[in-house]
Amino acid sequence: MAGVRIEGARVLLTGASSGIGRELARELAARGAVLALAARREPLLESLAQEIEASGGAAPAVLPVDLSRRGEAQELAARATEALGRVDVLVNNAGGGVGGLIASVGDRDEGREAFEVNLWSPLALIRALAPPMQARGTGAIVNVSSLAHVSTWPGFGAYAATKGALTTATETLALELIDTGVHVMLVYPGPIDTAVQGETRLVPGIERMIGRVPLGDAGEMARRIVRGLERAAARVYYPRRVRMADLFPALVRRDGRRLARRTARELDPETRAWMSELVVRTGSQGDDLTRQAREEWERSRGRAA
Ligand SMILES: NC(=O)c1ccc[n+]([C@@H]2O[C@H](COP(=O)([O-])OP(=O)(O)OC[C@H]3O[C@@H](n4cnc5c(N)ncnc54)[C@H](OP(=O)(O)O)[C@@H]3O)[C@@H](O)[C@H]2O)c1
Repeated sequence: MAGVRIEGARVLLTGASSGIGRELARELAARGAVLALAARREPLLESLAQEIEASGGAAPAVLPVDLSRRGEAQELAARATEALGRVDVLVNNAGGGVGGLIASVGDRDEGREAFEVNLWSPLALIRALAPPMQARGTGAIVNVSSLAHVSTWPGFGAYAATKGALTTATETLALELIDTGVHVMLVYPGPIDTAVQGETRLVPGIERMIGRVPLGDAGEMARRIVRGLERAAARVYYPRRVRMADLFPALVRRDGRRLARRTARELDPETRAWMSELVVRTGSQGDDLTRQAREEWERSRGRAA
């Protein structure tokens, strides 16, 4: 399949306000894409749009949205189509979630919201935007997943489950759209140096699992996503070692069990009790605990939260 031409492409990018999405917006705009930027924090989208315009890019449309609310994704698709004229490339990058043990999160609202943002909203956007792409015989859908479902960890499982579901849906979509001219690409970020790292590190022992892969840079992740589109890659892995987890999931899981057992044995009763009660929303609008951890991480990296 031919690669995607970025220059002039009309791109709906979710999760553009921070981290990987913000870098991806800069990268796409620098190569001539026309963007619709979506996320909740409108001021951050506005400042990004101004920055892109000031550096010679096409003025992006700013589309504030809360993708944890059922129905907003469908409306976003219509707003983006109106603002851009059509959507050639859909990037489902927005993501967030919930922290807590599976038996604590269960089917609570926090867990359901994580599924809304990470699975149902991307699928709603695909449902709205894939048929017009198919009708034109060209387009691309990029879903930013995670290998969390392979390298899962106690306290991280509900988020991991959302990404596992997104991955399977994306793999299936790629088969369904074979030979339609619409390219489907899965992105597997390993640990990337964004505010997410602050909240992730609240989970006891998780560094044992994720610390085995060096932290990636969000700008480099963005460049690899764009390169992947240009080459019509089916998957983009970064840092490179993440690919091994996808190739050898059984080995990663075996290792995970060993590391989790060691961590469980070392946990003091207080931390164990804290963990068993913990259910927190993550992300920029998450609970105080996670938001503070994000802010501290960003400060420690010399960035504004
Ligand atoms: N960083 C990593 O190590 C890592 C690893 C694996 C996968 N990922 C995935 O990579 C993607 C980007 O993450 P990141 O690291 O760049 O983290 P981030 O800085 O927290 O970015 C998440 C983006 O998603 C948006 N978002 C979250 N909840 C939303 C909602 N309810 N409605 C609309 N937008 C929402 C956020 O915007 P607002 O808060 O302004 O709404 C933000 O722009 C996510 O899908 C994440 O799961 C990251």
